Amino acid sequence: MNGSALYKKVVLLGAAVAALSLCGAVWVWAAGGQAPAQSLAELLERYDSKRCQECHTEIYEQWSRSHHARSLMGLDGFSFMSKYLRKGPLAVNKPQDATLANFPCAKCHLPQLMSAGPKVAQELAEVIWRDDKAVVGRLNIGCLVCHQDKAVVHHRPEPGVLYGPKALPEHEGEIKAVRKSSFMASPAFCGQCHGMGPNFEFTPPVQCATLYGSYLNGYVADGGSRTCLDCHMSGADHTFPPDFSDKEATAKLYRAALPMEVEALPYTFHPGHKENAPQVVVGVTIQNRAGHRIPDG
Ligand code: HEC
Ligand code: HEC
Ligand code: HEC
Ligand code: HEC
Ligand code: HEC
Repeated sequence: MNGSALYKKVVLLGAAVAALSLCGAVWVWAAGGQAPAQSLAELLERYDSKRCQECHTEIYEQWSRSHHARSLMGLDGFSFMSKYLRKGPLAVNKPQDATLANFPCAKCHLPQLMSAGPKVAQELAEVIWRDDKAVVGRLNIGCLVCHQDKAVVHHRPEPGVLYGPKALPEHEGEIKAVRKSSFMASPAFCGQCHGMGPNFEFTPPVQCATLYGSYLNGYVADGGSRTCLDCHMSGADHTFPPDFSDKEATAKLYRAALPMEVEALPYTFHPGHKENAPQVVVGVTIQNRAGHRIPDG
């Protein structure tokens, strides 16, 4: 290959990369039908579920008790990203160095961050660095994450509309209408975040939840026919138990989910004339009534 042919190839490749990144930009622009949020305040405001509280009081109250409402926090308000930003492959020397590449965890824990402007990652890192729980606690998987951004497949969500179980030609204020999304009722809707295995699109790849893989390959493959919604959202309950901060209630749920039967046969073994060896045969059967392995992660 002579020099000019190589040059042409490089130029062509460059053009292809430019075109692809342009597509990328358009795609990101289209997320939620709005331009990317340029500040953390703008992101918080845009996704604030309080907008829905007034009319959907009960669902709001249920959701606010769920882990979805504090998705950057572990138990007892522990902000888990503070550990990852300080040590390991996602660490930065100072928060101002952070970019979206430091937050692969946001793919499922804060998906709205993935289409935000670069300054938002820095601001978020600062908030996490100073352990500002008031702000971290407002960054969550709120109403619009599920009823807009994650609600449809094969196309971007239409601007200014919501998605739900049935179509409504009219809705309040800024939201013109509700479109029907059959996808929301499918296990794949929850599976977008509840995981199949390693997320290879990141360097290094990250792995967290794998429950959806277990649902498909263990439960459904074995003839299971119930969906995530059948077991977890009956009557549109938005509390999504288990709430691991409530130990008593969680223990009760798991006792019911994993019934255990124990059988014991004690006997004495006489290996020699004067020798007695007490023995016991214990049989334990644990049944799993959930639609997947327990625990996950
Ligand atoms: C001013 C009151 C009001 C506000 C604010 C409001 N809604 Fe609604 N919403 C309604 C009413 C009324 C209905 C119709 C209820 C029905 O027909 O069951 C509805 C229906 C819905 C439905 C569709 C239910 C279905 O059966 O498909 C969804 C989803 C929904 N709202 C989500 C939201 C979200 C998310 C927000 C916040 C961004 C919000 N709403 C804010 C009043 C409101
Ligand atoms: C593929 C989606 C996905 C990615 C990517 C992901 N997580 Fe998760 N993570 C989940 C889901 C879903 C849960 C909760 C349910 C479960 O554990 O099955 C969870 C649970 C957790 C919990 C337990 C929360 C609690 O309440 O105690 C921690 C901590 C956590 N993730 C940290 C991380 C970190 C740190 C990263 C990035 C390195 C990350 N996750 C990336 C989906 C993900
Ligand atoms: C984790 C995802 C998720 C979040 C977060 C979420 N929803 Fe839902 N919501 C759903 C799903 C799934 C359904 C049921 C869809 C179906 O049955 O087809 C639903 C149903 C509804 C319905 C219809 C209820 C009915 O009786 O038919 C309303 C109204 C609603 N959600 C409002 C809200 C509001 C308001 C918020 C925020 C406070 C919210 N949702 C947060 C996933 C979510
Ligand atoms: C946008 C991503 C996303 C979607 C969509 C989603 N979840 Fe989650 N879910 C999470 C994350 C992340 C957590 C853990 C939050 C934490 O505690 O840090 C979680 C927590 C939970 C929990 C509490 C147990 C736990 O391990 O924290 C249940 C139950 C749950 N989700 C069920 C569902 C079901 C059922 C659906 C579908 C209707 C669904 N989720 C949709 C991301 C998601
Ligand atoms: C046959 C019923 C059933 C189905 C189907 C089912 N689950 Fe569960 N799931 C349970 C039970 C039971 C538990 C134990 C806690 C409880 O009772 O809430 C549980 C626990 C969980 C937990 C907490 C896991 C942990 O580490 O302890 C999450 C998250 C969850 N389910 C999400 C889902 C998602 C997402 C789907 C669909 C892909 C799904 N479940 C399908 C019954 C089911």
